[in-house]
Amino acid sequence: MSELILKNVCKMYDKKQYAVRDFSLKIEDGEFVIFVGPSGCGKSTTLRMIAGLEEITSGELWIDKQLCNYVEPKDRDLSMVFQNYALYPQMTVYDNMAFALQIRKVPKKEIDKKVQEAASVLGIRHLLKQRPGALSGGQKQRVAIGSAIMREPKAFLMDEPLSNLDAKLRAQMRVELSELHKRLSATMIYVTHDQTEAMTLGTKIVVMKDGFIQQADTPKAVYEHPANLFVAGFIGSPSMNFFEGSIRKTDKGADFVLESGTALEIPEDRAFALLNEYRNKKVILGVRPEHFLSEITAKDPKADYTKRVLNGVITTREMLGAESMFYLEEASAGEFAARLPVETKGRTRDEMTLFVDMDRVHFFDAETEHNIFYRGGQQ
Ligand SMILES: Nc1ncnc2c1ncn2[C@@H]1O[C@H](COP(=O)(O)OP(=O)(O)OP(=O)(O)O)[C@@H](O)[C@H]1O
Ligand SMILES: [Mg+2]
Repeated sequence: MSELILKNVCKMYDKKQYAVRDFSLKIEDGEFVIFVGPSGCGKSTTLRMIAGLEEITSGELWIDKQLCNYVEPKDRDLSMVFQNYALYPQMTVYDNMAFALQIRKVPKKEIDKKVQEAASVLGIRHLLKQRPGALSGGQKQRVAIGSAIMREPKAFLMDEPLSNLDAKLRAQMRVELSELHKRLSATMIYVTHDQTEAMTLGTKIVVMKDGFIQQADTPKAVYEHPANLFVAGFIGSPSMNFFEGSIRKTDKGADFVLESGTALEIPEDRAFALLNEYRNKKVILGVRPEHFLSEITAKDPKADYTKRVLNGVITTREMLGAESMFYLEEASAGEFAARLPVETKGRTRDEMTLFVDMDRVHFFDAETEHNIFYRGGQQ
């Protein structure tokens, strides 16, 4: 059992500014929680407070029903893996991994069994006699994780452990970490500013900005129901497209009108609420690249596509394999990206007509930047 609860945790390094503010989160046993957000948003600070490497200015940290604010790091029973893996250069891989148990005076036989097991899981058995200097980045990374596993901690804390690796190794380690998590059913807290890593690894993502949690939920929920404009733009690659505009009443319901005058019909279920509350306010429409339809994909017989047209001029086209990414320019909104089937016709500088899947778009209050239809998540 290892459950972590943070209650209104704050951190101030100096008396002027919060590095982390009102951070409240419950981490259940076996979860793989990701702290994600831009540089300086407070990810490492939060992790270091959990580890006990940084004092908590206010708030409470509970580990397995014990208040841990003032518990020494070594007594918290957590294992931390840093970006710069702390290996002992003069010791072999085997001894690096065995070290934590040797100082605890665990019997040799037991240590050996555990080292062999962990090395198998991580695919580093053949490296046990080497010294860290002779290893590649990815191998060192695995040894560092191996040393962490040996301690059988209540939770693993990892701060951008893959950021020193090249793209290919990173992708490979991502898969391995995910498998490791399943095999150990351990609680993991993992810091990254890479949203792909966050989406693929996490059972829960905590999106942070300026020291505040913006949203904490499953990757799917964060992607499909972003709480605000920041989360919507941060999660997803290429990013969600944003269009400024206003709500206009029509005979049947309401349109979203871009500054260029282009009108997109809003589905009935949302038209009413928008008309009521946002008629004279600025609204931002968010459309993910995959929520554009082209002439070949717009096939719903019930849909009136003529009321969902967005025209643009192609500025770039990228082949992704099965799909193409089109970058287009709209008269008032500027550049936007659309993910379309590879058969889609269109070359640079061509005019292109796209349809917006209006059932799957998002509406944000331009002033508060909140998702107008967000109804709260799990936290
Ligand atoms: N030891 C420190 N003393 C003073 N300010 C600090 C200290 N460590 C971090 N900060 C400040 O606290 C804020 C949060 O920093 P933190 O290192 O937690 O960010 P981060 O999200 O991990 O960023 P990155 O992605 O760049 O690692 C930043 O504004 C940073 O300047
Ligand atoms: Mg950091």
